[in-house]
Amino acid sequence: MSARTGVRCDRTAAWKQLRAHYDELGARFDVRTAFEADGDARFAAFSEAAPHVFADLSKNLIDRRTEELLLALARESGLEAHRDAMFAGQPINRTEDRAVMHFLLRAPADVTVAEHNKAALADVHATLDAMLAYAEQLRGDHTITDVVNIGIGGSDLGPQMVVRALDAFTAPGKRFHFVSNVDGHELAGVLKGLAPEHTLFLIASKTFTTAETMTNAQSAKRWFAQSGGVDVARHFAALTTNVEAARAFGIEKTFGFWDWVGGRYSLWSAIGLPIALAIGADGFRALLAGAHAMDEHFRTAPLAQNLPVRLGLLDVWYRNFHGFTSRSIAPYHSALARLPAYLQQLEMESNGKQVDASGEALSFGTSPVLWGEPGTNGQHAYFQMLHQGTDVIPLEFVAVRDATHELEGHHPKLLANALAQAQALMAGQADAGGHKNFPGNRPSTFFVLDKLTPESLGAFLAMYEHRVFTSGALWGINSFDQWGVELGKVLARDIEPRLASGDTQGLDASTAGLIARLR
Ligand code: F6P
Repeated sequence: MSARTGVRCDRTAAWKQLRAHYDELGARFDVRTAFEADGDARFAAFSEAAPHVFADLSKNLIDRRTEELLLALARESGLEAHRDAMFAGQPINRTEDRAVMHFLLRAPADVTVAEHNKAALADVHATLDAMLAYAEQLRGDHTITDVVNIGIGGSDLGPQMVVRALDAFTAPGKRFHFVSNVDGHELAGVLKGLAPEHTLFLIASKTFTTAETMTNAQSAKRWFAQSGGVDVARHFAALTTNVEAARAFGIEKTFGFWDWVGGRYSLWSAIGLPIALAIGADGFRALLAGAHAMDEHFRTAPLAQNLPVRLGLLDVWYRNFHGFTSRSIAPYHSALARLPAYLQQLEMESNGKQVDASGEALSFGTSPVLWGEPGTNGQHAYFQMLHQGTDVIPLEFVAVRDATHELEGHHPKLLANALAQAQALMAGQADAGGHKNFPGNRPSTFFVLDKLTPESLGAFLAMYEHRVFTSGALWGINSFDQWGVELGKVLARDIEPRLASGDTQGLDASTAGLIARLR
């Protein structure tokens, strides 16, 4: 067991100083005044060019003193020691006694790792090579026109989001479908358009026990046989840490991964096979390389110039001192439509915790609610509330400089809208009269990728993982377990037979009444 070396954030001297700083100045901080005083220097000081990702943090409610105190908080809380423990492969996921090594999935084969991680790195590359060879073989197999990924949570959101995001890099000839929900409407809808001889099913489940995925996998297998499919071995593959269970299910072709890969951190493992099928082996390796570049930045850059660290500290500032309970993300690129859903699992399943790593209750807030939609769509839906509502919600823009389409005039309009929204949130509009007044001083962060490529997307996602690590480390929580998803699973197993039998004995009156209604 690795012991945490730092002090929990709320017990540090820096926390008290931050509280005083907030009371004194932070609450009244006006970013417009800060720009008047500081101009270009503010933009330079509060922007960061990390590998493949540029971030402008200057429109946030922070000044140099705030950041100095937040950096002191990081040091006192032992962020660096905790980060180094992760990279050393120590079992920092203490409730499951597991190491947390998704970074190893994107490490080059010849990278220097701790002696005890050498075998794991060799396994990673053996599996990666086998998976990419299989992907290339299938990419050349034109009889397979449809790939159906059956998985949920981390076994769905990551690959689904990336396949969509990198559509411009996808060779034509294959359609990708993602079935996650146990709601049969989803699988039935996908199967309707498919022929078994042209379909490949990927059963993606770290545990190979998840009820939704097992139900969908059984139904897919039944459909395959009933529609005249032959050769299950050719048309089904499994992506899992539980290779025996996949074999018992009747799948021969399996690609494994390891218990030190969390589900929401697994798109870099065999769970990424749909991505490799879409963008090819070189594309997948480029995605890994982009993420690795960000891993190195997070591992080695001084805290004050470390983008994931600066973002994670800002998250703590907003959540614990300003008391903001949510954050919105607006990707100004329609290929990133599933990014908010993916980030919801990454951040909220990781940091939605109410006890610290030793099980002690926390007296401060942890994960904010994360939500969002692509711009400009969001502007015509909920941005009203961001501009004039009573709650302050930090907004994050993701803009991509170069478009991958040729349609004239669209891209400058898209980028102009992103910039204008960030400007309007900050500047506001006074003296226009009552309903037309905008308070302004509403914080935002602006990310710029030069192009949406496998490399830049890999770097962006790794940046986000390490940002979540940073706030989780400061809060002293275990960002790598998810016990909060278990209770509902247990209760669903109890309720399912009651829906058939009508037995409501021992249930609360509401659940009993609803069962009667649904029967
Ligand atoms: O129930 C939550 C969860 O365990 C997630 O953490 C995970 O990504 C998802 O279910 C799917 O799990 P599996 O890949 O084991 O099917």
